[in-house]
Amino acid sequence: MKPLVIAIDGYSSCGKSTTAKAVAAELHYAYVDTGAMYRAVTLHLLENNISFEDIGQVEAALAALRISFRRNRATGRNEVFVNGLNREDDIRQMRISNAVSEVSVIPLVRHALVAQQQRMGRKRGVVMDGRDIGTTVFADAEVKIFMTADVTIRALRRQEELAAKNEHVSLEAIIENLRKRDHIDSTRAESPLRRAPDAVLLDTTHITISEQVDFVLDRVSSALFAAYAG
Ligand code: DC
Repeated sequence: MKPLVIAIDGYSSCGKSTTAKAVAAELHYAYVDTGAMYRAVTLHLLENNISFEDIGQVEAALAALRISFRRNRATGRNEVFVNGLNREDDIRQMRISNAVSEVSVIPLVRHALVAQQQRMGRKRGVVMDGRDIGTTVFADAEVKIFMTADVTIRALRRQEELAAKNEHVSLEAIIENLRKRDHIDSTRAESPLRRAPDAVLLDTTHITISEQVDFVLDRVSSALFAAYAG
């Protein structure tokens, strides 16, 4: 079967990565969480006290930074490694969520990560989630989904995820973070969060994870059918 690129974009905490992971597992495709890569850069800059405005230092930091994903056999999770160390839990903390949108507006950062994402998907057979996959990273993706959901529902889901990791954050603080990130992500100059004209809208406010997964798998079947029919 022809390997496809499946691009899943949308607002923060709409269930993109949960859906993308399940779709990848079902199809035996690779899964790339591009948000984790922006989070990894943010963690690295914060830990090394590099100002986001100091472009020279940001450039040097990027040159010395190696981001990779490895599958944890025990949990089946894809985990992010930064310069050889497992930083999966660290990149999900609220302090990173609060700074990541500022880092992801930096054109140098975007160019480096977009190039790496394109290399990771060059053989196709990949599900990639993020903000600019269907518009920029793989504008030729065969399946494009744009996910959205009510902000309170998104915040409640995020609060549960953080609580499971023993980080207790108020709903108001999470809503504020989501709104701020949505705003910065959609208004930045370089590859802003935008629905590609050929992306299908998926509102996850009132549907279950398995319904989200089935929705995407239906689109994949149609794309495969179109590829063979055409
Ligand atoms: O998917 P996430 O919430 O983990 O992403 C974290 C941040 O990274 C998000 O607020 C914006 C940025 N991001 C981006 O600019 N482009 C992407 N392709 C993925 C994420």
